[in-house]
Amino acid sequence: MADVSALPTFKLAGKIAIITGGASGIGEATARLFASNGAFVVIADIQDELGENVANSIGKQHCAYFHSDITDEQQVIALVDFTVKTYGRLDIMFSNAGIVSNSDQTVLDLNLTLFDKLFAINARGTAVCVKHAARAMVEQGIRGCIICTASAAASKGYSMHTDYIMSKHAVLGLVRSASKQLGAYGIRVNCVSPSAVVTPLLSKIGVSLPEDTKKMMNAYKGLSSLKGIELSVDHVAEAVLFLASDIDEISGCR
Ligand SMILES: NC(=O)c1ccc[n+]([C@@H]2O[C@H](COP(=O)([O-])OP(=O)(O)OC[C@H]3O[C@@H](n4cnc5c(N)ncnc54)[C@H](O)[C@@H]3O)[C@@H](O)[C@H]2O)c1
Repeated sequence: MADVSALPTFKLAGKIAIITGGASGIGEATARLFASNGAFVVIADIQDELGENVANSIGKQHCAYFHSDITDEQQVIALVDFTVKTYGRLDIMFSNAGIVSNSDQTVLDLNLTLFDKLFAINARGTAVCVKHAARAMVEQGIRGCIICTASAAASKGYSMHTDYIMSKHAVLGLVRSASKQLGAYGIRVNCVSPSAVVTPLLSKIGVSLPEDTKKMMNAYKGLSSLKGIELSVDHVAEAVLFLASDIDEISGCR
C-alpha cells in the first residue's frame, strides 16, 4: 500500500486566486506558495515586466499576469472579469498591494499629497478589491475567501509613517466590517498583520543597506509579539495559505 503521508498535500487544489501586488515581496512569495499548493494564480500588479517574469517562472499552467492598478476601480473590475471569464470562478482574493510614503510623515510634517496617494492604494484600493471579489463570489455562490495585508501597525501607533499606520488601521476596519457582512454568504474575510519584513518596500523608504535594515527591524520589533525569529516573506505566505485553505482542510470538520 502507498505511504499516504509521503504524498504531497495540495491545500488549494483547483482553486482560482487573485493576488494583488503579486510581482514582488510578500505577494510574489504567496503566489509561488499558492501555485505549489495547486491553485491557479492571477498576479495583478503595475510592474508589468516583473509581474510577467514572476508568472512565467511559476509556469503558464499555474499562473498568469494581469495589469491592474488598484487605484482605478475599472481596472479592478476588468481583473475580476478576466479571472472569472478565463478560469471560470474566483475562490480567493489576496488583496496585498500597498506602498509606504517616501517621507517620515510625522504629524507635524505630514505631506498630504503623499498621504492621498498612499490612501488611494492602501485603503481605497484594498476596499475596491474586496468589493469586486466579494461581488463575483456572491454572484456565483462561491463560499470563497478574502485576505488582506494589514500590518502589525494596524492597531498600534508609531513615531512616524502616520499615513501608512492610518491606512492599515483602515484595512483592519474594512476586514472587520466585510467579515460581518459577507459571513452570511459563507465568505471568510481575514487579514495578515506582519511586522517588518525585508522586501523592496523597505528600500523605497531608504532602507536598503544592511545596517538600515537592522535599524528598521529593531524599530518595528516592539510592534511584534513573536520573539526570536526574523520575519520573512515565506512566513507571511504560509500564514496566508493557512487562511486561504478550506475549513475542512484545516480541521477535518464538515
Ligand atoms: N515589508 C514590510 O515590512 C511589511 C510589513 C507589514 C505589511 N506590509 C504590507 O505588505 C504588502 C506587500 O508589501 P511588500 O513588503 O511585499 O512590498 P513590495 O513593494 O515588494 O510589494 C508591493 C507590490 O504592490 C504593487 N503595487 C503598488 N501599487 C500598486 C497599485 N496601485 N496597483 C497594483 N499593485 C500595486 C507594487 O508594484 C509591488 O509589486 C503591502 O500592503 C505592505 O503595506 C509590508
